[in-house]
Order: sequence, then structure tokens, then C-alpha cells
Amino acid sequence: MSRLKLPTIAPSEITPEEVWRSRRVWLKHAGMGAVAAGAGAFGVPSWAQDARSVLAATPNPNFRLPDEATSEKDITSYNNYYEFGTGKADPFENAHKLQVRPWTVSVEGEVARPRTFDIDELLKLAPMEERVYRMRCVEAWSMVIPWSGYSLSHLLKAVEPTSKAKFVEFTTVLQKENMPGTRSRIIDWPYVEGLRMDEAMHPLSMLVFGVYGKQLPSQNGAPMRLAVPWKYGFKSGKSIVRIRLLENMPLTSWVKIAPHEYGFYANVNPDVPHPRWSQATERRIGGGFFAPRVDTLMYNGYGEQVASLYAGLDLRENY
Ligand code: MTE
Repeated sequence: MSRLKLPTIAPSEITPEEVWRSRRVWLKHAGMGAVAAGAGAFGVPSWAQDARSVLAATPNPNFRLPDEATSEKDITSYNNYYEFGTGKADPFENAHKLQVRPWTVSVEGEVARPRTFDIDELLKLAPMEERVYRMRCVEAWSMVIPWSGYSLSHLLKAVEPTSKAKFVEFTTVLQKENMPGTRSRIIDWPYVEGLRMDEAMHPLSMLVFGVYGKQLPSQNGAPMRLAVPWKYGFKSGKSIVRIRLLENMPLTSWVKIAPHEYGFYANVNPDVPHPRWSQATERRIGGGFFAPRVDTLMYNGYGEQVASLYAGLDLRENY
């Protein structure tokens, strides 16, 4: 992954931070206060509507953070989605070309009931929750993001994993004609990621359909992506089309490209530097370039919930 670059967004495009500070104020700003206030847990949107329509989700008090949320503007315009280019503003500029309908996700492999789900079914598979997650990119920047979705375990349970299922592989969409970044061979497309089965079943592992109370914009991985907050951001594949349960560890895109730099585990760990830079601190996006860096927390601050998954594992070897 290339080193941190500043976003190339015109300052005039960036809405002042305070406008976004409160979600209620923000919703009012977007003219959606009434809709959001009256929305129930199952407000499934029509994908025929504009891609930024409301996605009702009930805030889950178990996934709140004291940190101030990153502005919607920053979350949706400073992205990594290499299929649309490697610049931080490239996904914002190019991802509108992504075709998000029709969309199906096949769930197969070591399961008793393999199935292809339509995205509309997936939107209704479990109650839509809003969870605020700290997300840490391997490039040493971070954001605090109010995602809408539910635990991945709901989907995995629906297909009944067999006892042989030890890993889960996520394959993301490849629409060559709509994805200018795929003309470059930096990645052997499509982008593939994976988790161990117990990681995938952990309640924190989230299937995400929306952000800031609206459907995901394409640059953030519409119509469905993963959010695994205790791991570096590259584990959270965007625009997923296939989920395969496997007996053996899958070969994931970044491990294939540079196994000495990007491990399968990719747990956020301030004590294990990337071979080319430190992981001890991070820059919180939105704080301004000169804002002090913050200390990176072990497992991105989710140690209490996930450390037991790695008991007895050498974290320097299994980075
Ligand atoms: N998924 C796909 N398909 N392609 C990508 O390039 N980049 C990853 C991850 N998922 C990526 C991807 C990386 S490196 C990060 S940090 C996060 O997406 C960024 O997610 P965000 O842009 O929504 O913050």
C-alpha cells in the first residue's frame, strides 16, 4: 500500500467540522430529520432511489464511543478503494460508475445450505443497527465511523457452517469497465480478504450497508462491505459478491502482494511496526494535518472483546 498522501479535495468542498458534529443537526441539514426520527428498525430502502437515501438503523448502545465521529464529508471523500484508483480522492471521483443493482452475494463452501442472496434479502436478514466503530488504516490514519448493518454471524449461521469451516474468504466485485484502477496490475483482481472462522463469528465483525444513517456510497463499498474494527482497514473488503467458508487459510490479496508487510491476521498492534513505518501512532482524519497524532491502541481499543481469540498466538509472527 502506498504511503499516506494528503487528500486532493478543494478546501471549498469541505464543510466545516462543526456542521457535522451532531448527527441530529446533520440530518436536519440534509432535510431528513423527520424521516430519521420516525424510522423503525426495518426501514428497508428501495435501491431504485438515489444511492444516498435513508437507511433506518437503531443505535446499539453497546457500540458507542467517547470519540467524536469523523465528518460524513471526510468518511466519503478520503478513501482507499484501489479498483477506482490509488489516490485518496479517486474513489470519490470515480466510484459512481459502480453498478450496485442487480446485486447478489453467494455464500458457499463448507456450509450445509449454500445460497445466493439478493441484496434486498440481506438488507432484511437481521435488524439494522447503528454502531460507531473506530477504524484504523495500515497507513497510520484513522476515523470514527457510524456504520449501519448487523453482525456477519447472522448471515453465516443462515447457511449452516460445517465442522470443516475454519476460515472465511470474501471476494469483492470486479467490474473492469467501471473500475479504472483495475487497468493497473497492483493487485491480482478481484480484491480478496479473509478471516478465521471465530473472528468472522465474533459479534464485532459487521456486515455494513450504510453510513451516517444512509445507504453506503459506492466509494465506501456499496452495497455491502465488511467492518472489522480491531484489524487494519484492508481486512474490511468492500462491495462483496462472494463469501466462501473454507477448511484452509485463503490466500488474500495483500498477503499475495507483500507477505512480509501484510499478514493474514492484520490485528492493529502498535508494538509491531510495518517494515517501512511505525504503527505506534495514528493521524485522526478531520483533526487537521497539524493536529497531534494519537497513540494507536492494541487491537484498536477492542482488546477486551477480542484478545481471547489470540491467546497463545505469537503476535510478532502472526502479524
Ligand atoms: N476493498 C476493496 N475491494 N478494495 C480496496 O482497495 N481497501 C481497503 C478496505 N477495503 C480496499 C477495500 C483499505 S486499505 C481500507 S483502509 C478500507 O477499505 C478503507 O475503507 P473506507 O475508504 O471506507 O474508509
